[in-house]
Amino acid sequence: MSTLASFNDRMRVLIIGASGAIGGALVDRLAEHPRVAHVLACSRAPSLHASAKVEVRPIDILDEASIQSALTGVPHIDLAIVATGLLHDSSGMTPEKSWRALDKDTLLRSFATNAVGPALVAKHVLPLLPRQGKSVFAALSARVGSISDNRLGGWYGYRASKAALNQIIRTLAIELARQRRDAICVGLHPGTVDSNLSKPFQDNVGDGQLFTPGFAAERLLAVIDGLEPAATGQLLAWDGQLIAP
Ligand SMILES: NC(=O)c1ccc[n+]([C@@H]2O[C@H](COP(=O)([O-])OP(=O)(O)OC[C@H]3O[C@@H](n4cnc5c(N)ncnc54)[C@H](OP(=O)(O)O)[C@@H]3O)[C@@H](O)[C@H]2O)c1
Repeated sequence: MSTLASFNDRMRVLIIGASGAIGGALVDRLAEHPRVAHVLACSRAPSLHASAKVEVRPIDILDEASIQSALTGVPHIDLAIVATGLLHDSSGMTPEKSWRALDKDTLLRSFATNAVGPALVAKHVLPLLPRQGKSVFAALSARVGSISDNRLGGWYGYRASKAALNQIIRTLAIELARQRRDAICVGLHPGTVDSNLSKPFQDNVGDGQLFTPGFAAERLLAVIDGLEPAATGQLLAWDGQLIAP
């Protein structure tokens, strides 16, 4: 388990997307951590967690009033992780293999969930980061959002919405640094993780390359623990490697 020693003791943590595979694993890891005093676990569908440290509240990241309501009365947050995301759904939305599949509604839905939602969350969470001492706002992004890393093509909406998220993170980081010297705002790529989101696309994943949500959560917390203010605005992978924009 990562030490989280770079943060003040008695940390207050916020996980958004607690019903998801990675979000849920983050909640459970953090709840059992001795340095964590409180975990606010927010999701659209209610999530179940055994620890008394966990407080569950509803949120829809596309509804700003719901974001405000989820944060009502929260005194401050040392670590916030946005673990929401959309790649496909049960109505038939699926990543585009060709420009022939481009569809307005699918593109707008990808941008809404993967870029607009996390931006609205940041709007209400960043003011809750402490003025002094290390704090982190992290959003789960994806390596495929890197423009320079795009060699395969396809997945237009997911790629472009994650690229937009990466730009939003960089822009938030610049503004945040003017107000809170010790605060860090990053995008994180969790690796390929066994979840509903990745399920239809797991066939070509190499041996040992499909992580459990628990492993990904542990790696992400280790990366977060190691972050220095100089890292703010960057996209980092589960192993701490910098991903070029
Ligand atoms: N799994 C991978 O291989 C992989 C790889 C690279 C990046 N990522 C990124 O990692 C993040 C987490 O993915 P995951 O694998 O854990 O997927 P997941 O299990 O499908 O979790 C995604 C979560 O996002 C939530 N969500 C979607 N729209 C929402 C909204 N409007 N308001 C509140 N919650 C909403 C979903 O909640 P509902 O249940 O209510 O829909 C779900 O709990 C995503 O950003 C994803 O892009 C994952």
